Parts: sequence; C-alpha cells; structure tokens
Amino acid sequence: MTEDSKVQINEVVLRDGLQNEPEFVATADKIALADLLSATGIRRLETTSFVSPKAIPNLRDASEVFAGITRSEDIHYTALVPNKRGADRALASHVDEVNLVMSIGEKHNLANMQMTCDQSLAQFRDILDMIAGSGIYPNGTIATAFGCPFEGPQTPARVLWAIETYRAMGIKGITVADTIGVANPRQVGQLVALILQDHPDLHLTLHFHNTRDLGLANALAAYDAGARSFDSALGGIGGCPYAPGATGNICTEDLVHMFHQCGIQTGVDLDRLIDVSHKLTSVLGHQTPGFVAKAGPSNKHHGRLSQCVNSISSIGRYEQPYPASIA
Ligand code: COA
Ligand code: ZN
Repeated sequence: MTEDSKVQINEVVLRDGLQNEPEFVATADKIALADLLSATGIRRLETTSFVSPKAIPNLRDASEVFAGITRSEDIHYTALVPNKRGADRALASHVDEVNLVMSIGEKHNLANMQMTCDQSLAQFRDILDMIAGSGIYPNGTIATAFGCPFEGPQTPARVLWAIETYRAMGIKGITVADTIGVANPRQVGQLVALILQDHPDLHLTLHFHNTRDLGLANALAAYDAGARSFDSALGGIGGCPYAPGATGNICTEDLVHMFHQCGIQTGVDLDRLIDVSHKLTSVLGHQTPGFVAKAGPSNKHHGRLSQCVNSISSIGRYEQPYPASIA
C-alpha cells in the first residue's frame, strides 16, 4: 500500500447531514460531535454552512459552532459558502477552506441558491477576491453533476465545462457531487477517468448520496478510476432540502469499513468512528441508515453464542430465544 493508494475522507455530517434533519440539533451537541470527529483521524471536516438561516434553519448557528470547536492543527475545517455574505461570515470564523457550491442543473441552482449559474459564478469570483491572501483554500462543488431533479441527466461535457470554469477562476479543489443519487458505477468510473485524463493534477473529491443504494459501489468505481478523496456523512444521514426525494450521503463508517476491507488505507480509526456514530444516533433521537455501526465491522466476532441469541431475540426475528441448554 503506497501513499498514492490512500484515500482522504471529508466528513460532511455536520453540514450535509444536519441540514436535512427534521429537528434543530443543539449547538453544544454539534460542537461535541465535531470535537469527537476531530479525534478519529479524519483530516477534513465540513463543519457547517454560512448560508441564509431562512434557507437552512438547522445551520443558523454556524458562527457559534466555529467559535466553540477545538481545532486540531492536522484538520482542515471547511464550510459551505454560497455568496459574499457567507464569505464575510466564513472569514470572521477563520475557516481553513470554503466550499463554493453551484448546481450545473440550472433549475436546481435556482431552487437551492436563488441564483442562475452565471450569478453563482459571479459570486464565486468576488469570494475568491475576498479570500485572496488569507490562506483559505478554495474548493468548488459541482452539484447535480449526474442528474438534476428538475432537468434530468447532465452530460460529462457540462461537468468538464464546470471544472474548467472553476479552475480558470482559481478554485483549487473540485468536488463532483451526485446530489440526488442517480449515478451508477460504470458511469462514475468513466467520468472520473475522463476528468483525470484532462486534469491529472486536480484535487478531485467525489460526493455520493445513497439514494438508490449505489453509493458505495459508486465510491469504489471512482477509486478504481483514480479518485482518492471522498465526502461522506457519519451514519449516512443528509441530503439537500431543495432536491425533492433527496436522501442521505454515503455513510462514513461504511465507506471506511469498505476501504479497509479492500486493503485501502484511510487513516481513520474505525472503532472510534463507530463510537461517534452511536453518539450521533443518541443526539438525533432516531436510527441512521448506516450499516456498520449496527452490525459491527466484519472482522469482529461475537464472543459467545448466548450474546448472539440475545441480539437475535432482541431484534425480534424469532418469537422464542434458543433454549438455554444450547446457549
Ligand atoms: N448568511 C446569512 N444570511 C444571509 C446569507 C448568508 N450567506 N445570504 C443572504 N442572507 C440573508 C440576507 O441578509 C437577507 O436577510 P434579511 O431577509 O433579514 O434581510 C436574506 O438572507 C435574503 O438575502 P438574499 O441575498 O436576497 O438571498 P436569497 O433569498 O436570494 O437567498 C441564498 C440566496 C444563497 C442566501 C440562499 O438561497 C441560501 O442560503 N441557500 C443555501 C441552500 C443550501 O444550503 N442548500 C443545501 C446545500 S447544497
Ligand atoms: Zn450532498
């Protein structure tokens, strides 16, 4: 295993995850989750969004969250920024990275950002001027890259156009996002190969939603085509509130588990991540879609059959537990 084969995980639960929760998560809980995540080996943490509190009420405490977290030198604390007002707030919070988001499906950009693509790009240019010399790393997300909920499929040519446009204005990292979870692994492999052929030096991140249960397959296809950076959300929660039918991101602990099982390093401590996922479940007060936090990693075995019997009976798969004589 070489450094070239290692992947970077960008944890987005505090942004993409919480933006779609039915209930507001207390600021103190967000800060506690951020601090726990900072100790899992993750190197990039999308901490919040500096967006309109009317558009995303759940993240109205973005500045307080940034002020409250304990920052690790090793981690890039990033935030989604849609416009100059958001950039002002992000600068005041000393973010390490801004994530500038535009949907290439024009209609979704209008629904989500109240802007045409041209208007978003004009905001990006101003934001890049505002952060010039600050040391803040500019990342740009191409949302609805595989399909728009209102316009349908998007073409690779439009994705490449967006990458070229972003790079020409000085955006360094680019995230290609399947906002509504319509991509399939073949298509992902082909698109990633095409992008890296034209832009071999690009810091490319893939962002998948598991809306149709193809999220991990898409991530592996992207990896096989050369991608080494992935967004994912603890527990697999999340989604864009302005995309009808949107569901959760790929689940971080499931993604890390898959990569580790495939012999691919992430630098993330899976056991710690699972502990934080359990904490997330208790903070949210409901189950999350992820698998590994419930089942445990596939290389962990149960100590005794009796424990297994207890867990089978507790999930109600059998009406009667096995008799004590065989437990
Ligand atoms: N942070 C905080 N407040 C903001 C803001 C920002 N980044 N941008 C605008 N506002 C406030 C304005 O101050 C104004 O407040 P007021 O009504 O009290 O005067 C209000 O929001 C409207 O401002 P305007 O510039 O007209 O924005 P808009 O209504 O056209 O909305 C966005 C544009 C981009 C701010 C809004 O659509 C948005 O925040 N979208 C983000 C959606 C999102 O995060 N989706 C999920 C992630 S993909
Ligand atoms: Zn998303």
